[in-house]
Amino acid sequence: MGNSVTAVDATALKAEFPLLATPRPDGRTLHYLDSAATSQKPQAVLDAMDAYYCETNANVHRGVYEMAAEATDRFEAGRTAAARLVNHPREGLVLAKNATEAINLVAWAWGTRTLREGDEILVTGMEHHSDIVPWQIVATITGAKVVFAPITPGGELDMDALQGLITERTRLVGVVHASNVLGTINPVAEIVTMAHAVGALALVDATQSVPHMPVDATAIDADFLVFTGHKLCGPTGIGCLAGRPSVLEAIEPFLGGGEMINDVTTEGSTWAEIPLKFEAGTPPIAEAVGLAAAIEFLEGIGLDRIRAHERELCVQMLAALDEVPGLTVLGPRDPDRRGAAFSWVMDDLHPHDIAQFLDSKNICVRAGHHCAKPLMRVLGTQATTRASGYLYTTEEDVLALRDALIECRSWFGVG
Ligand code: ALA
Repeated sequence: MGNSVTAVDATALKAEFPLLATPRPDGRTLHYLDSAATSQKPQAVLDAMDAYYCETNANVHRGVYEMAAEATDRFEAGRTAAARLVNHPREGLVLAKNATEAINLVAWAWGTRTLREGDEILVTGMEHHSDIVPWQIVATITGAKVVFAPITPGGELDMDALQGLITERTRLVGVVHASNVLGTINPVAEIVTMAHAVGALALVDATQSVPHMPVDATAIDADFLVFTGHKLCGPTGIGCLAGRPSVLEAIEPFLGGGEMINDVTTEGSTWAEIPLKFEAGTPPIAEAVGLAAAIEFLEGIGLDRIRAHERELCVQMLAALDEVPGLTVLGPRDPDRRGAAFSWVMDDLHPHDIAQFLDSKNICVRAGHHCAKPLMRVLGTQATTRASGYLYTTEEDVLALRDALIECRSWFGVG
């Protein structure tokens, strides 16, 4: 991305997030650097969810009374917003509990019924567990095999090796768009084309990209693209599967129950049209309302401007981390090839000790394996410390992190 887009004013934006705008009980400033785990929520999202409960709380797709119809409209507006955000046909936008459930939906609805012994699911060495474990479960049931594409020492996909692993045995290629550990942005459209060339399906885990940059699901052309509400300023409890309508139509349901049927008799059942075929039971209604508000909030700012801000943040963060003795940042250094999640290891210090010290300075980071244990093994470590930014992350947050990391070394007596 070039530099022509004006980045957001992160300091001004903090005022829209009550948790960030309100002083901490001890009066100190909070430096929230864990947005890859979950984002903070703007007032607009909290208000929209409150208004739903106060004004039109009713179940959806059922009631004939006016308020139930209004609830249905507000719920469906969440689907419309999610489809619009990623430029995907509305009927292919399935609402799930989270991105993990969306991947499990594909694994169970498609994988268990389709895969056979000798088939391969190709995932990458930098997948989150959510794009590994469902496939391992399905492989155990079907006899298919999960194959891992290697990554380079610089923390990027080895595209030649990946190409070599896509064969006539490959039935699905699963790839993360932006790594939650390394920040690496992968060339997903290219990988989808490689998968399609052998007749395989492609699944893109866009959980860490959709909140941070313009993502065009139609251009990427994956059969399945998943993302989640709570990382894009929305509530927990709602995730999205943007599925190719023709593929969704061809596969059987994941969960059975109310909502997802056309008819039920004592002999059997028939299914509703997509996307409702995949939405058994009462859906996350208030969460869909919150999702719509979050997406409108992000669109009002501009995803291209958020990306421009995070690009600047990459430059600031890498420079700041470089000043800390004994610290090695993992993943790409080129801000055009990475997002705003930064993991590092530090000589002589355990990530949990670092995170605890940072907490004492009101700096929130994540330490551990980040639900990416195969990647940790490739990196030769059990854990990293990770700081992750978003549209409200400021240079002040970055510098506070740098200063605390330098202080942390002397506090632990490692120089
Ligand atoms: N997947 C989230 C993270 O990386 C929870 O922290």
